Amino acid sequence: MKQLSNKHVLLCVTGGIAAYKAAEIIRLFKTSGSNVRVLMTSAAKEFITPLTMQALSGNQVHTDLLDTDAEAAMGHIELAKWSDIVLIAPCSANSIARLASGKGDDLMTAVCLAAECKIYFAPAMNQAMWSDSRTQNNHKKLLKNKFIPIGPNSGEQACGDEGYGRMSEPQEIVNNIASGFSEGLLAGKKILITAGPTREKIDPVRFISNRSSGKMGFSIAEAARDEGGLVSLISGPVSLETPNEIKRINVESADEMLSEVDKVINDFDLFISTAAVSDYKPEEYEVQKIKKEKNTDNLNLELITNKDILKHVSKDKGDLKVIGFAAETQNIIENAKRKLNEKNLDLIIANDVSDPSIGFDSDENEVYLITDEIEKKIDRVSKKKLSRSIIEFIANYL
Ligand SMILES: Cc1cc2nc3c(=O)[nH]c(=O)nc-3n(C[C@H](O)[C@H](O)[C@H](O)COP(=O)(O)O)c2cc1C
Repeated sequence: MKQLSNKHVLLCVTGGIAAYKAAEIIRLFKTSGSNVRVLMTSAAKEFITPLTMQALSGNQVHTDLLDTDAEAAMGHIELAKWSDIVLIAPCSANSIARLASGKGDDLMTAVCLAAECKIYFAPAMNQAMWSDSRTQNNHKKLLKNKFIPIGPNSGEQACGDEGYGRMSEPQEIVNNIASGFSEGLLAGKKILITAGPTREKIDPVRFISNRSSGKMGFSIAEAARDEGGLVSLISGPVSLETPNEIKRINVESADEMLSEVDKVINDFDLFISTAAVSDYKPEEYEVQKIKKEKNTDNLNLELITNKDILKHVSKDKGDLKVIGFAAETQNIIENAKRKLNEKNLDLIIANDVSDPSIGFDSDENEVYLITDEIEKKIDRVSKKKLSRSIIEFIANYL
């Protein structure tokens, strides 16, 4: 990642199970050309050795505030001044509490008081420790200060629990920081994109789906990344490679897509829904394959509506910008404007899917960009070029 080349990164490791992942974080920074120094709390040294961190970073590890030898080499003020960014990963509940209180009684807290650069922190702890109201209050205090959060994520935990508190993956952490140094129209913005079709299961071998290839969403994701955005993709089943530097979560059904969007949406500045989410799903899922019945020509499937993801997200959107696609076969502009209002969107991108040479599964598209005030046509171009125009429009008008 060229944004990280020659950057001075101070990685502060605190005492938690995820400390072993700090080794991978160092490796990722080093391969991006960063100069990494490591600071460890005394608890961190119980989880991973300073020797490992020294060998990986190629620099002496800093551990003590009141160590005269270390102070002579580089005191907490010099360490703070040396850093282009400080990253605390993993960041324990205890360290969050001490940083929130403004303490400076060990090297890490003293450096964080003295640092004038951006300070990122990646919380990592058991789900109950994370949801405890004291941790939540301390976390809020840090957000009001100069600290920038990365994660935590939800998932399986070392202790066997499941829930929020799991540290973000090293690559995700490094991508977040790289985007903070990015240049471009969307530099530092966090963008969530849904793409592809959904599959609504009928029985173990059958499902309802549609012809979406995911190409438009993946192409928009690349264009947003190229403009400095930090992009996550939630994708239905498609046969496309994950673009570099983009986090991808795979889902099948509309319900799964909604649940993944819900988990992370609060972290994002922009939501672009390009997915062709199935409007309907079978009311019942048959556990056994449905057999072909003799003596009847019909099979009746009862369908019920899926929850509208766009509407759901834009209900309480606050500062989030929400962008939707409208695949129409008739009265394109009229229908798109209705959706723009009904779904409380900031921009709708409408295309005519009745024309087989554009839209679904094609490499080209032709669209209308419609906001409350603007209506702009983009004539038929490759999805790649179109994506760049869409991202430029979003950056300029929203
Ligand atoms: C085996 C073990 C695992 C721990 N894992 C975590 C953890 O993942 N997150 C956390 O916040 N605290 C964890 N703790 C508690 C911290 O190590 C403890 O609060 C320590 O004082 C943190 O110090 P520090 O914040 O100065 O590094 C763990 C403790 C033990 C014994």
